[in-house]
Amino acid sequence: MLGGTRFVGRVFVEEALAQGHQVTTFNRGQTGQDVPGAEVVRGDRENGSDLLALVQGREWDWVVDTSGYVPQVVGNAARLLSDRAGAYVFLSTISVYPGWPAEPVDEDSAVYDCPPDAAGTAEDEANWSAAQYGAYKAGCERAVQEAFEGRVTVLRPGVILGPQENVGRLTWWLRRIAQGGRVLAPGQPAKQIQPVDIRDLTAFTLSCLQRGTTGAFNVTAPRGHATFGEMLEACRTVTGSQAEFAWVDDAFLVEHDVRQWTEIPLWRTPLGTWEVGAAAAAAAGLTCRPIAATVRDTHLWLTETNGPLSYGRQAHHGLSRQREHELLEAWDRC
Ligand SMILES: NC(=O)c1ccc[n+]([C@@H]2O[C@H](COP(=O)([O-])OP(=O)(O)OC[C@H]3O[C@@H](n4cnc5c(N)ncnc54)[C@H](OP(=O)(O)O)[C@@H]3O)[C@@H](O)[C@H]2O)c1
Repeated sequence: MLGGTRFVGRVFVEEALAQGHQVTTFNRGQTGQDVPGAEVVRGDRENGSDLLALVQGREWDWVVDTSGYVPQVVGNAARLLSDRAGAYVFLSTISVYPGWPAEPVDEDSAVYDCPPDAAGTAEDEANWSAAQYGAYKAGCERAVQEAFEGRVTVLRPGVILGPQENVGRLTWWLRRIAQGGRVLAPGQPAKQIQPVDIRDLTAFTLSCLQRGTTGAFNVTAPRGHATFGEMLEACRTVTGSQAEFAWVDDAFLVEHDVRQWTEIPLWRTPLGTWEVGAAAAAAAGLTCRPIAATVRDTHLWLTETNGPLSYGRQAHHGLSRQREHELLEAWDRC
C-alpha cells in the first residue's frame, strides 16, 4: 500500500488485514496513525533511495496506490515494483475526463493528454486546480500502464463518502444539520447523486485483485441510486435534529456566487456531475449500499472519535452560518 494512513488507503488496509491479508504500508509517517497489524516502511515516494529501500528484499502479490498524484513520481515507483509485485491498483479520479462535470462520461470518454513522465511534487496537491489534478492523474495512469502493462486496475471514483472521510463533505452536512434551525438545502430534493461508500470501493478493489480484474472503471454508485433529499433526510434522522430544510433554487445560488462543490458541499449544477456511467464497475462486481447506511455510519464514527484528520481542503468546505442566514433572507424576499 503506497499511502495507507488517511482515508481511502487506511480503510483499505484495515479491511485487507481483517480479511487475513498481509499488508505493507509505505509512507513518511506524517499523516494519521499506522494501522495496527500492517508492516510499516517509512519513506518518501518522491525520493529514489527511499523507494529502493522499500523494495529491497521484498515481494508482493499486489500494489495498491492511493497516494499517487505526479506521473513521474508514480512511474518511478511502478517501474521498481513491476518485477516485485503481481498487479497494481491505481486510485485515480473522475477528474481525468476534461468533459466532466459539464457532460456525462463513461470509460470511453476522452481523458487528459498528460505524459507519463510529467514531473513535479505533490506537496501542495490539495490546492491544485481540478484541471491540474485530473491531467496529472491521467499521466499517472499512463505511467502505471507502461510499467505494469496488462496487470493494472485503474479506479476512477467520483465522490467517496463514509467513515473516516477527510475532505469535509458529508461530515459538514451532518454537523450543520445537527445544529438544527433552518438549513439551506441546495437545488431540488429529487436531484440524483452518485457518491460511493468507501467500504464499497474497498470491497470492489479487493474483489478486482482477487479475481484478476484489470482495466479502468468509474467507481460511483449507479445513476438514480440516491437523491440529495434522501441524504439530507438521513442526516436529520441520525442526528435526531429538528432542522427544517429550505430548498433554494440552483439559479439563485449561482446568481449569489455560492462556490459550487465546496461552499455547499456536494452541490454542483453542471449537467454531467451526477451522470457518470458506472455500469462497467457494476458488471465487474461493485455493489453500493444505500446512502442512509453511509450517513448512519459516518455519524456514528463522528460521535465515537475525534473526527477527520486535518486536510488542506477542509477549510474550503461549508457555508458559514452568517452567509446561510443572508442567503435565506434574500431567498425569502424573492
Ligand atoms: N476523497 C474523494 O472523494 C476522492 C475522489 C476521487 C479520488 N480520490 C483519490 O483517492 C485517494 C485518496 O487517498 P487518501 O488520502 O484517502 O489515501 P491514504 O493512503 O489513506 O492517505 C494518503 C497517504 O499517502 C501518504 N503520502 C503522502 N505523500 C507521500 C509521499 N511523498 N511519500 C510517501 N507517502 C506519502 C500519506 O502519509 P504521509 O503523509 O505520512 O507520508 C498517507 O498515508 C487519492 O488518490 C485521491 O486522488 C479521492
